[in-house]
Amino acid sequence: MRAVLASHNQKKIAELQTILGELGVEVISQREAGVDIEVEETGTTFEANARLKARAVMEATGLPAIADDSGLSVDALDGAPGVYSARYGGEGLDDTGRWQLLLEHMQGVEDRACRFVCVICCAFPDGGELMARGECPGVLAQAPQGDGGFGYDPIFYLPQLGKTMAQLTPQEKNSLSHRGNALRDFQKEWERSPYGTDQ
Ligand code: IMP
Repeated sequence: MRAVLASHNQKKIAELQTILGELGVEVISQREAGVDIEVEETGTTFEANARLKARAVMEATGLPAIADDSGLSVDALDGAPGVYSARYGGEGLDDTGRWQLLLEHMQGVEDRACRFVCVICCAFPDGGELMARGECPGVLAQAPQGDGGFGYDPIFYLPQLGKTMAQLTPQEKNSLSHRGNALRDFQKEWERSPYGTDQ
């Protein structure tokens, strides 16, 4: 099956392509599909935003479209920044500015439990839909370490490995990340669905 990936984030696309390729899904970018739409993420849940993005790109291309919505939820902040992770602190900040701001907000806070969450939605032209979710628990570091990955990876500490997400190889990250876990859940949904067998 051929599906369009509804994302402009090259690093995210690369992470998704690796695993979807193993499912026999040939993924193409929005650009390759000849559409250039930016979908406004107006939902208040990861599920709602993933569905908005997948449906919009499916309708624009006429092909199955896969979108993910992801973010970092911090327990002591009642789940913030959550679905607003990419916009945390407003438009003017880049990835580094955002995690710096988060560390400032968390200064002196003892409970540093947090999780990355990822929801993947695949919208099909026949109106069908597959939805999958993955999480990865961790601890907010006191200071950044590592320069791999993207986003909040330098401050996302994995106690079981003694490393931040930014210190992992792409393969190590895929093996335990929220996106990897969501894709493995997606694989199960996919194989159980009619789409996994006859397309
Ligand atoms: P989305 O494009 O709306 O899903 O935005 C997700 C945002 O959450 C990104 O811009 C990052 O700030 C953050 N995020 C999601 N996944 C990861 C990850 O694997 N590592 C680090 N940050 C992530």
